[in-house]
Amino acid sequence: MKLLVTGGLGFIGSNFVRHVLKSHPSWRVVNLDIRTYAGNPANLADVAGGLRYRWVRADIRDPHAAAECMRGVDAVVHFAAESHVDRSILDAASFVQTNVVGTHVLLEEARRAAVERFVHVSTDEVYGSVEKGFSREADPLEPNSPYAASKAAADLLVRSYCVTHKLPALITRSSNNFGPYQFPEKALPLLITNFFDDQPFPLYGDGMNVRDWVYVLDHVRALEFLLLKGRTGEVYNIGGMHAAPNKELIERVRKLMGKPASLVQPVPDRPGHDRRYALDCGKLKALGFKHAYPFDEALNLTIAWYRANEAWWRPLKKAGGYRKYYDRQYAARLGRHADPSSAR
Ligand code: NAD
Ligand code: TYD
Repeated sequence: MKLLVTGGLGFIGSNFVRHVLKSHPSWRVVNLDIRTYAGNPANLADVAGGLRYRWVRADIRDPHAAAECMRGVDAVVHFAAESHVDRSILDAASFVQTNVVGTHVLLEEARRAAVERFVHVSTDEVYGSVEKGFSREADPLEPNSPYAASKAAADLLVRSYCVTHKLPALITRSSNNFGPYQFPEKALPLLITNFFDDQPFPLYGDGMNVRDWVYVLDHVRALEFLLLKGRTGEVYNIGGMHAAPNKELIERVRKLMGKPASLVQPVPDRPGHDRRYALDCGKLKALGFKHAYPFDEALNLTIAWYRANEAWWRPLKKAGGYRKYYDRQYAARLGRHADPSSAR
């Protein structure tokens, strides 16, 4: 199989590329990635020299680049996106451009190239906050952040291409991922790497927001599974079946790392902060998918990975600029930790 992966230099995309190249010795991957602040060639340094992998540095909004990358491709797995909610609150323009316009360009080119499979990687955030119960695939889309709205718009475009143009597409909606190669602006890697340096973690609001956590290696296994066995036109939830309030998860990590409670510092809440996400994954399981990583083991593996890979994350944190947007909003209220060099 020849695959086009978009956003393969990012967190989940790079884990997916590594996984499929290892699991399928005859597969080849083209990775279309413009390399934003979140794209990092180091994420795939171990496969970069191989004949079965090629990175094309281009924008998914560029129809010529997309068409070129789709030549001879059997399937597309579309990860490329602006993915951080906090950034979308401060400036949503790039979210609309990449997540909506970019997805449309890919759908058009996939239709022209007559690819046999288009997997659109989406998020549980499109369902909005669920106070109780679990989101199912047919539930209404009620996105609350500009990030979630841009992903929901993309989901609807994918659906329309499937129905109108018979594009053989399917949509996956996963919960919060964690694991190796996650950019350290997201909650768990920020927490772990701050704790290594005895720096505080800014806990939004009362810390009772609930997220379901899926280990990235289970997520990419589920994507591989659905690429091969999923049904065209369907939506599949991919959760970790481990929902917890942020406070509880942070406490667990703090104890595992042996750090003082004073390092968890409450800060004003994120505007529009969804209270709870929770996914019903019955449809995926009914198809035969089984998770391979128990949550505690995955959390330990993740902490160990960041401990062993300082050379990967230190330069990203040192560059600092990636969190300037955040500091603008919260610096005044962060008090003595307002200085960017002390807040991370
Ligand atoms: P990420 O931010 O780590 O990586 C995104 C990648 O897309 C980067 O390599 C970036 O360079 C690339 N990219 C961005 N704009 C581009 C453009 N215009 N053209 C080409 N490449 C571009 O993201 P991630 O966390 O790996 O998420 C991957 C996908 O999974 C996204 O679609 C996201 O919405 C979805 N998702 C993520 C999570 C999560 O917890 N991280 C959960 C559910 C769904
Ligand atoms: P995040 O990793 O940004 O993912 P998402 O917003 O897409 O769920 O955040 C996970 C949870 O952690 C979310 O409820 C917001 C919270 N959070 C903090 O409390 N502090 C932080 O510094 C960050 C980045 C997130």
